Amino acid sequence: MDTRPIGIFDSGLGGLTAVRALVKAAPWESFVYFGDTANAPYGDKSPAELAELSGHNIRLLLAQDVKAILVACNTSTSNAMDAMVRQARGTPLIGVINAAAAEAAAATKTGKLAVLATAATVRSGAYERAIREMLPEAEVTAVACPRLVPLIEGGHTDPADPELCGSVQEYAGPVRAAGADTVILGCTHYPIVKASIEAALAPGTALIDSGAASVGTLLAELAARDALGDKKSAGSRRFFCSARLADFARHGAAFLGWQMERVDQIDIGRF
Ligand code: DGL
Repeated sequence: MDTRPIGIFDSGLGGLTAVRALVKAAPWESFVYFGDTANAPYGDKSPAELAELSGHNIRLLLAQDVKAILVACNTSTSNAMDAMVRQARGTPLIGVINAAAAEAAAATKTGKLAVLATAATVRSGAYERAIREMLPEAEVTAVACPRLVPLIEGGHTDPADPELCGSVQEYAGPVRAAGADTVILGCTHYPIVKASIEAALAPGTALIDSGAASVGTLLAELAARDALGDKKSAGSRRFFCSARLADFARHGAAFLGWQMERVDQIDIGRF
């Protein structure tokens, strides 16, 4: 047993989709969450910038004595994993790409899949590689959705929001044209607007939530290391962000369905 917290990070609100899944699956686990709201969005950044930013996030979480780190950000996972592994100094790191790709490969019936993701994740080709390892004949359509994260971080999450609707319709176009039966929400922010995305796709399209998918991998990894927490206790929850604390707490609570007990704003450049 290991009762230390799990570290989780994202560029902002997106990783809360993994938090929601973690709290549901393992309410006894303690965690420390960091949303790098001062530097969001990550999706328009270069691999070198992402390695630098992700390194700060890893060092912040290590300073909280975490037992494992869930990189609840597809953009960091796809662009900066090697750099993060070096920074983590042996602390287990779990990314989101492989778990989501495996769930999608198991769900597709036609072998036609699509990935909605940030520009940096699409540019990396990480999802295509992960899916083709499992399904060599798969047809994968990857669509960059650069306007979605700024809209979500700005609180434009209502399915009736005209800017959100217009953007989602545009990004869903190539997915419908390709006839994909399974779509990976390859950015952890996107499940926050899942209803809008679902409405823009062909009925019956399977949607894969990358944050939720990775929680299964995280818990399996902890179990294999005999490092799950104390199932008889309630886990503690701690949140940090690097800018716009009030917005982060308000939008986050709306998504989670509960208030964050404690949120602190920190200067991530110090780590
Ligand atoms: N939620 C993150 C991801 O999964 C980052 C999005 C962004 O900041 O552009 O890719």
